[in-house]
Amino acid sequence: MLDAAKTDETLLEVNNIEVIYNHVILVLKGVSLNVKKGGITALLGGNGAGKTTTLKAISNLLHSERGEVTKGSIVYQGESVQDLDPAQLVKRGVIQVMEGRHCFEHLTVEENLLTGAYTRKDGKGAIESDLEMVYNYFPRLKERRRSQAGYTSGGEQQMVAIGRALMSRPETVLLDEPSMGLAPQLVEQIFEIVKSVNENEGVSFLLAEQNTNVALKYAHYGYILENGRVVMDGLAAELRENPDVKEFYLGVSDDGRKSFRDVRSYRRRKRWLA
Ligand SMILES: Nc1ncnc2c1ncn2[C@@H]1O[C@H](COP(=O)(O)OP(=O)(O)OP(=O)(O)O)[C@@H](O)[C@H]1O
Ligand SMILES: [Mg+2]
Repeated sequence: MLDAAKTDETLLEVNNIEVIYNHVILVLKGVSLNVKKGGITALLGGNGAGKTTTLKAISNLLHSERGEVTKGSIVYQGESVQDLDPAQLVKRGVIQVMEGRHCFEHLTVEENLLTGAYTRKDGKGAIESDLEMVYNYFPRLKERRRSQAGYTSGGEQQMVAIGRALMSRPETVLLDEPSMGLAPQLVEQIFEIVKSVNENEGVSFLLAEQNTNVALKYAHYGYILENGRVVMDGLAAELRENPDVKEFYLGVSDDGRKSFRDVRSYRRRKRWLA
């Protein structure tokens, strides 16, 4: 399972970044993380911890939100990528799947998938064979290929969003909260697909998740963000066994299952003290 540990090559390095919104709201207070080639890296944390902000900082999507990286550096394969726009970053092999899925509702499922190939110049044949590759991973999308995306289910829309990203032939996918609003069974199904894309296509993933349980089951390495700072990181297998992670993020402690309320109020106290 720990294939990522085999190659030690770092694809993406985020070094001590600070992000400020609207010139005054300091949201990321020095976040550092690495994404290894061929691995699945999880960025975990509750509501408002700064996960989406971190992903948007990497793919340079903060400007439209009046956000700015004011400190630190972001390096992809040894080169600074801070001045690249999202389209240039896609050409380098990095693509983001936004939180909340974002399909083109009036286009069909297949048309949506094809929009993901817009930066490619390797011809129709290659794009068609990748469409088949996406349909192999998501047979459900093949059945729904002619349906208008706006009329498909939440799970199908998440599949379209991931499938569209794969159509750009990425090396690294930044995946924001794929579990959001989906039934547990569907969440597992989507993570299984992410795992097989990772294993079979060698695509690396940085995935932001509130759902610590499922993310640590599929990731190789994890970072936990709290209030704009990384408070813990480690191999996913180790984080799963860590008593604090169990208590605060998995809702279980050694003396049995904790109620979420206890954990929440404790966390609130902890924040106050921090
Ligand atoms: N455009 C913005 N302007 C000002 N503040 C913002 C903006 N976007 C996010 N924030 C604030 O930044 C903090 C981090 O938000 P972010 O969306 O990165 O968190 P998150 O970890 O992705 O949370 P969630 O799990 O709810 O998606 C929050 O306090 C949020 O209110
Ligand atoms: Mg988010």
